[in-house]
Amino acid sequence: MFSKDSVIGVIGSGAMGAGIAQVASTAGHIVYVYDNSAKSLEKAQSNLKSSLTKLVEKQKISVELSQSISKNINFVPDLNSFSKCGLVIEAIAENLEVKQKVFSDLEKIVSADCVLATNTSSLSITSIASACTKPERVLGIHFFNPATIMPLVEIIPGIATQQSLIGNVKKLIDGWGKVTVIAKDTPGFIVNRVARPFYSEALRIYEEGIADIPTIDWAMKEFGGFKMGPFELMDLIGHDVNYVVTETVWKQFYFDPRFKPALSQKRLLEAGFLGKKSGKGFYNYAEGTTLLEPDRNTAIGKLVFTRVLAMLINEAVDSLYYKIASKEDLDLAMTKGVNYPKGLLKWADEIGPENILQTMMVLYDLYQEDRYRPSVLLKQMVLQNKGFY
Ligand code: NAI
Repeated sequence: MFSKDSVIGVIGSGAMGAGIAQVASTAGHIVYVYDNSAKSLEKAQSNLKSSLTKLVEKQKISVELSQSISKNINFVPDLNSFSKCGLVIEAIAENLEVKQKVFSDLEKIVSADCVLATNTSSLSITSIASACTKPERVLGIHFFNPATIMPLVEIIPGIATQQSLIGNVKKLIDGWGKVTVIAKDTPGFIVNRVARPFYSEALRIYEEGIADIPTIDWAMKEFGGFKMGPFELMDLIGHDVNYVVTETVWKQFYFDPRFKPALSQKRLLEAGFLGKKSGKGFYNYAEGTTLLEPDRNTAIGKLVFTRVLAMLINEAVDSLYYKIASKEDLDLAMTKGVNYPKGLLKWADEIGPENILQTMMVLYDLYQEDRYRPSVLLKQMVLQNKGFY
C-alpha cells in the first residue's frame, strides 16, 4: 500500500510535526508540512536547517543526505498540495474540536485512499475519526518527543479503522527505523497509561512523608536502574505537560483512583513552577543553588522502589488483562518509549508475580483504597503458578 514514493503530509509544524516530517523525509519520502501559523512554519524551517547542520557536523549524516532531507520537505501555506499524499499525520494543538475540524477539511482535499493519522497523546482516536465521512481510514500514529530520536511509535486503530490498514502502517513506520507497537484506543494508549504510577506513586510516597524527593529519585535509580528519578523526570517533562496528562487519563477512566493526580504537583503548576524550563519545579535550578542530597537509607530506598515498581507492574498486568496490547508490545513500549531498564512483565517474572501480588496486598490492606487493588490477572497468574513469558 505504501512505498518510498508515497507522499507524506504533516499538519502542524511544532515540536512533534517538525520532528515527524524530518523522520519521514530522512526515510526518503517527499513531505508537505502545513501549519496555520506562518511564524511556526518559518521557525520549523530554520530549526530544520540548524538541526541538519549539527547532524552533518557531528558526522551523523552525510552532506548529501542532509541536502536531500531538506529538499524533500516542503513547508506550504495551505492544504492544496495534500491532494498528492498517501498518508497525512496531524500534529496540531491537543484539542478535540480543532482536530475534528482539520480532519473534516482535510477529507475534502485528499484522495479517496489517503490514510489519515493523528499524533494525539490523550484524545480518543475514535472521536477524532468520527468527524470523517470515511472513519475507516483514520488511526493514531503516536510518536514520542523528540520524534527524531525516540524509537517508539504507538499505532492505535479506532473502532472504525479498517483492519488491513494496521499492518500496512506498521510496515511503513518500521521502515522509517522506528519500533512500532499496537495499542487499543483507550486513555493514554500504552506508555502514557502504564507509566502513570512512576509519577503518582512517587508523589504519594513524598506527600505521606515516607521519603523526601531526592531520596525517592535516588531509590529508583539505585535499586531500579531507572535513568532518572520520577521527580527529575517530571521536572524535565514540565508539570504543565505531565500533570495535564495525568489529570486527563484519570478523568477519562471515570476518576479511577489508580490514576488520581497529586495536589503537590498541581500546586507547582498553579505557581508556574513548571520544572527545568522555568528554573524551578520540585528542584530549584537557579544558578548557585546546590541540589539536595538523598539520605541514602537502604531500607527506605528499597521500600520506595518496591512500592513504585509493584504499582507499575500491576498497571502493565492490568493493561494486558484488558487487552490494551500484547505482552511483547507492552514491554517494548516501556523500554523504547520511556527508556525503562526492563519490560515490566519480564521484570514481574524475574521478581515473581507472587511477590508483586504480596506488595499490592499489603498496600491494599493498609490503605483500603481501590487505588491499590491488584489486577485480576496478577491474582490468576499466582493461583496458576504461571509467569508472563
Ligand atoms: P506544538 O504546540 O509544539 O505545535 C502545534 C502546532 O500546530 C503549532 O505550530 C500550531 O501553530 C499548529 N496548529 C494549531 N492549530 C492548527 C490548525 N488548526 N491547523 C494547522 N496548524 C495548527 O505542539 P506539539 O507538542 O508538537 O504537539 C502536537 C500534537 O502532538 C498534540 O496532539 C500533542 O498531544 C501530540 N504529542 C505531543 C508530544 C510532546 O511531547 N510535545 C508527544 C507526543 C504527542
